[in-house]
Amino acid sequence: MSEQNRSSEVLLKVQEKYFPPEEIVKRAWIKDYEKLYAESIRDRESFWAKVAEELHWFRKWDKVLEWNFPYAKWFVGGKTNITYNCLDRHVQNGRRNKVAYIYLDEDNNERKITYGELLELVCRIANGLKSLGLKKGDRVSIYMPNTIEAVATMLACARIGVIHSVVFAGFSEGALRTRIEDAKAKVVFTATYTKRRGKKVELLPTVKKAIEGLDFVEKVVVWDRDSEGIKEGEKFVDFYELVKTSKPYCEPEEMDAEDPLFILYTSGTTGKPKGVLHTTGGYMVQTYFTSKVVFDLHEDDIYWCTADIGWITGHSYIVYGILANGVTSLLVEGAPDYPDPGRWWSYVEKYRVNVFYTAPTAIRMFMRYGEEWPAKYDLSSLRILGSVGEPINPEAWHWYYKHIGGERCVIVDTWWQTETGSHMITTVPSYPAKPGKAGKPMFTVEVDVVDKDGNPLPPNTVGFLVIKTPWPSMLRTCWGEPERYEKYWKTIEGVYFAGDLASIDEEGYVMILGRADDVINVAGHRIGTMEVESALVDHPSVAEAAVIGKPHEVKGESIKAFVILRKGVEPSEKLVEELKDHVKKVLGPIAVPEEIEFVEKLPKTRSGKIMRRVLKAKELGLDVGDVSTLED
Ligand code: PRX
Repeated sequence: MSEQNRSSEVLLKVQEKYFPPEEIVKRAWIKDYEKLYAESIRDRESFWAKVAEELHWFRKWDKVLEWNFPYAKWFVGGKTNITYNCLDRHVQNGRRNKVAYIYLDEDNNERKITYGELLELVCRIANGLKSLGLKKGDRVSIYMPNTIEAVATMLACARIGVIHSVVFAGFSEGALRTRIEDAKAKVVFTATYTKRRGKKVELLPTVKKAIEGLDFVEKVVVWDRDSEGIKEGEKFVDFYELVKTSKPYCEPEEMDAEDPLFILYTSGTTGKPKGVLHTTGGYMVQTYFTSKVVFDLHEDDIYWCTADIGWITGHSYIVYGILANGVTSLLVEGAPDYPDPGRWWSYVEKYRVNVFYTAPTAIRMFMRYGEEWPAKYDLSSLRILGSVGEPINPEAWHWYYKHIGGERCVIVDTWWQTETGSHMITTVPSYPAKPGKAGKPMFTVEVDVVDKDGNPLPPNTVGFLVIKTPWPSMLRTCWGEPERYEKYWKTIEGVYFAGDLASIDEEGYVMILGRADDVINVAGHRIGTMEVESALVDHPSVAEAAVIGKPHEVKGESIKAFVILRKGVEPSEKLVEELKDHVKKVLGPIAVPEEIEFVEKLPKTRSGKIMRRVLKAKELGLDVGDVSTLED
């Protein structure tokens, strides 16, 4: 941990506090964080029951929490439907003609959809799903760009209890296939293409390759974006044909609070991604509540989360939590800096965005382009700025605060994970923020920083971040792999092991330092070292591979691979390119190593495990630490 300690020394010096402007405190839902937090800890169940009462239930729960370590059930016996809360509830209460999403593509083509229209589209797709023979509990994979069609498809699944598994449309055929196969998806939704940096990125051919030989995939529903006609054969169905020929209303399925809502695959320490499973009631309640109080959403707000629906941030804070609050959101497809680095800021100006949620990697990219880009636009509508996905370094924090927020805004640095479903550590807008520190635990959440045996560490000491008690939007299991789920609660017996390194200061502010395990965070994307290693070893020239994360100025971390070639294969620049292409094909562009070094040997323990820690320390010129288990 020597390298982490060094970086923490620098960060620990950062103790300055930023107090929110009075106008923000005045309108904030939460005025006194400390008081409410203390109350929430005294009685967790009443706290969440009160929140849940703000939403619609077909049948009220009998019990708020049933905790049978390490398995939790929330709102036991309650019946609800998340789409009813995201759509019908608003349509019936005066928001029928309110815009739910303003969608924009790279050419600035705009499409608005109201809550009333979105409900109808969702119902039509849901009826379409039924006509394809799908029933509650079946799985559907969604491999679509960040568009209204994709959001509506997610909601359509939730409408009838079909479990969706969204796969980020930047993944390639190998990654897509693994996820379709693991979930045994009966139907796959896709689009003919997405557009990025002015270029078409074909999606349908990828799906066709990914499902080759997977007989359980009964249909592929294709959104034919240029109406060219789907000529792929019987298995392929035209999205808008299905929409048009289906009825405009579909009764929402009465879902048990613990019925599965979706699977979302994420990287862990093995080569195979984990299918994180979220269920209906608890996820709905906590995403609704955190959206409301962390982003301090009010009726007329224009909200924009720049994430993609392929990640948990998109699920919770573009779709479910945000729609449950009935506000208007921007939904944007394509690159942030195309056609020029003013794209995002021009939207903030044009749509008078009030709440803006993005990742530190994007902020650092814009820092490089220079403040002249945001300076061209009127960003005075902004009130709250959010950050997510990786630690925000104080320099980026200050740039965001000054050049985007005009020194008038509040920054909320939200720490959470695919597994946690919603925000777990952050400051709320009325509470002072410290640059570089995520802040305080969300209501009812108790966190700690401990050593490997679970002993709490003194303030400002780096250790493992753990969560001590269950929370409503926690993952319920890993799809088909309960042992992987149990590992979260058994790595350090009795508490949830987040996999992050952190420290807590004297005032209780949590600072996150990065992953403690073999997971790399490249531009906010979670990539398992083993996944990349498996992809490399899959190439005929590679005998062995080891992958590490290296600090990167913009992306936070970048991937470096050490490769041992098979006998007789000569290292060359051409081979480096070939290996990069191979990883791109198997996993996708986000997982491609920036550097590949050919080596003769890899440091291993006597039992044969690659010591990535040693490789990393050597690469960064740091102390290699304890190497007593090293083979030679
Ligand atoms: O290391 C933490 C980092 O992202 C990991 C979770 O990644 P994922 O499941 O893909 O979800 C990302 C979006 C919620 C965490 O284990 N992380 C996330 N948010 C922050 C963060 N690190 C520091 N500060 C954050 N605000």
